[in-house]
Amino acid sequence: MFSLKDKVAVVTGASQGIGRETALALAEAGAKVVVAARNEEKLAALVQEIAGKGGEAFAVKLDVADAEQTKAAFKTILEKFGRVDILVNNAAITRDGLAMRMKADDWDAVLRTNLTGAHLCIQQVLPGMMKARAGRIINMASVVARMGNAGQANYVAAKAGLIGLTKAIAIEIASRNITVNAVAPGFIETPMTDFLSDKVKEELKTRIPLGRMGSGRDVAAAIVFLASDEACYITGHVLDVNGGMYLA
Ligand code: NAI
Repeated sequence: MFSLKDKVAVVTGASQGIGRETALALAEAGAKVVVAARNEEKLAALVQEIAGKGGEAFAVKLDVADAEQTKAAFKTILEKFGRVDILVNNAAITRDGLAMRMKADDWDAVLRTNLTGAHLCIQQVLPGMMKARAGRIINMASVVARMGNAGQANYVAAKAGLIGLTKAIAIEIASRNITVNAVAPGFIETPMTDFLSDKVKEELKTRIPLGRMGSGRDVAAAIVFLASDEACYITGHVLDVNGGMYLA
């Protein structure tokens, strides 16, 4: 079960954190993984790591906030592999601040990367997936899209938008046998949450019924499942991976 043998998967923001773990897990399940992000050095190291474990990976420099670069990156991917079976829209940034004082640049950058970036990547893979009448699109949302979070109006709006995007496109392309789902992680140990103090982390853990922060691998496992043939009848769904911290 859950074999992705010979599938071509693209993971955006794969240079670290959840994206990196997802790339490793997809490769472990047999997929050929295109790791796409801005940091080419980290990507090269990841490609080597996957190859060292007997998998196949290919690095592509990609800034999802840049429409022209996104087009060019997917052109390269399609030239090399001929198709994309699985797209994981994982790339994201935070620019936290209270809404009242939020700078326009911080609002725009987060919406552009976290929401528009996913839309741009989806546009690049849809023609091929529609022709193939097959495909998996998985968008990385967040628990905060469901529960809100003070100081993150831009990030929460983008993640809630991503859930809306997931549902709209799921309906639009369901007749072509393409599924579109979202994963909503809770608090996961990655560079994105590293900056939190130990005190804040301990406080957060008291709000998580399973009593610990999640790992990148916990989230990656959910993605491998949604990417698999076995998940063929699931679409427009938001899969919570949050240790029970928010029960929707
Ligand atoms: P991270 O900051 O460690 O990784 C984010 C990745 O996205 C990095 O590889 C970064 O280089 C890449 N990225 C950022 N902007 C980009 C751009 N314009 N183009 C291409 N790549 C870009 O964060 P983490 O924690 O691994 O997050 C991964 C995903 O999971 C994100 O979508 C995040 O919002 C989401 N998430 C994370 C949670 C956590 O607790 N860590 C909780 C809920 C959601």
